[in-house]
Amino acid sequence: MRHDILTSRAILPAETLSLEIAVVVPTLNEAGNVERLIEKLSVVLAGRGWEVVFVDDNSPDGTSELVRRIGRGSRHVRIVQRVGRRGLSSAVVEGILATAAPVIAVMDGDLQHSEDALPRLIDAIADGADIAVGTRYVAGGGIGDWDKDRAWMSRLATRTGQIALGTDVSDPMSGFFAVRRDAFERALPRLSAIGFKILIDLLASSPAPLKVAEIPYEFRTREAGESKIGARVIAEYAELIADKTIGRFVPVRLLKFLMVGGLGVFVHLAVLRTILGTGSAFVAAQTAAVMTAIAFNFFLNNSFTYADRKLKGWRLVGGLASFYAISALGAAANIGIGTWMAGQDERWWVAGIAGVVVGAIWNFAMSSALTWRK
Ligand code: GDD
Ligand code: MN
Repeated sequence: MRHDILTSRAILPAETLSLEIAVVVPTLNEAGNVERLIEKLSVVLAGRGWEVVFVDDNSPDGTSELVRRIGRGSRHVRIVQRVGRRGLSSAVVEGILATAAPVIAVMDGDLQHSEDALPRLIDAIADGADIAVGTRYVAGGGIGDWDKDRAWMSRLATRTGQIALGTDVSDPMSGFFAVRRDAFERALPRLSAIGFKILIDLLASSPAPLKVAEIPYEFRTREAGESKIGARVIAEYAELIADKTIGRFVPVRLLKFLMVGGLGVFVHLAVLRTILGTGSAFVAAQTAAVMTAIAFNFFLNNSFTYADRKLKGWRLVGGLASFYAISALGAAANIGIGTWMAGQDERWWVAGIAGVVVGAIWNFAMSSALTWRK
C-alpha cells in the first residue's frame, strides 16, 4: 500500500515553543486517516507547543511506518509501536506515559472526534478542571449518524457505567477528553486498563473526585477504515465495570472461575441423568459425569476465565491433564475437610459448604499457578 505524505506547511516545520499539550491517539489500522488527522491538529493547535503521540498496535496496514515517515519531517509527530499487544485503554496509558507534556488530550485516530472541540478541552484544563470531557449528550453535542441499535447500545452502556460508578458525567464512554498529568498520575496505580473505556476507568480510579468540565461535540461518521467494536469490546466493558465495583473486594477472575464451576454442576447432573437413563450403574454414570464436567470446566475456563492466557494446540492436552490432576486433589480436599467439619458441627450443610469452598479455592489457586501459569 502506498500513502502520499502531506508536506503541507501546516505540519512542518517543528515548533520551538515549549511542550504544552500532547494528543495521544490509539490506532489499529488507521493508515487511511492519520495524515488528515495530523493536518487537522496542526491547524487547531497552531500557536501552541504540541505533539501527537500515536500508539499503534503493529497495524497490518502499516500505520506505524506511515507515522514514522511523517515524523521524520516533523517534531510534532511521534509513535509508540506495540508488538503482540492489544487494547485501546492500555495504548492510551502508555501514550500518556511516553510524553512529557503537562496536559494530555486523548482522541480517536479515525476523525470521528471533532478536532474543533480540542482547543476548548485544553482551555478548560487551563481554567481549572482536572479533566475535560468531550460529550455527545449535552446540548450542542450529538451522536452523528449512528443507527438505532448502536445509539441504544451506547445509551445502555452509558447508564450502566453512570450507575455502577456513581458518576453524573453525561458521557463517561467518551474516548475524547483532556486531562492534567498530575490528575492522571494519581489515578494511575489503580487503573484497570482493560478494554476500550479509559475515561470511565480514570474517573473511577481517582482517589479524590476529579473536577470535570464537559464540552459538547458532534460525533462524526467514520470515512476510512472500520470500527473495532464487537462482542469482545462489549465483554471487556462488562469486565471493566465488574473490576471497578465488586473487583475491589473479590478478584474478577475468581468470580469467573466460580461461575464456570457453577455451570459445571449443571453439566454434571445432565450427564449423570442421561447415562443413568441408559440403565448404567450409578458408579459408572457418576464417574463419566465427573470427567465430563471437569473437561467442560477446563475448556470454558480456558476461553473465558483465562482468555488472556489461553492455551492452544498441544498445550491444551497438558493443560487438561494438569486440570484433571488438580481437580482430583481438590475433590480429595473437599471430602477431607467436609468429613472433618461434620465431626465438629451438627449441621450437615455447614460441613458440605466448607468442603466445597476449600475445594474451589484449591482448584482456583492451583490451576492459575500451574495450568494457566503466566
Ligand atoms: N492501539 C490500539 N489498540 N488502538 C485501538 C484498538 C487497539 O486494540 N482498538 C481500537 N483502537 C483505536 C482505533 O484505531 C481508533 O483510533 C480508536 O481506537 C477508536 O476505535 P473505533 O473502533 O473507531 O471505536 P468506535 O468508533 O466504535 O468508538 C469510539 O468512539 C467512542 C465515542 O467517542 C471509542 O473511542 C470510544 O472510546 C469512544 O467513546
Ligand atoms: Mn471510531
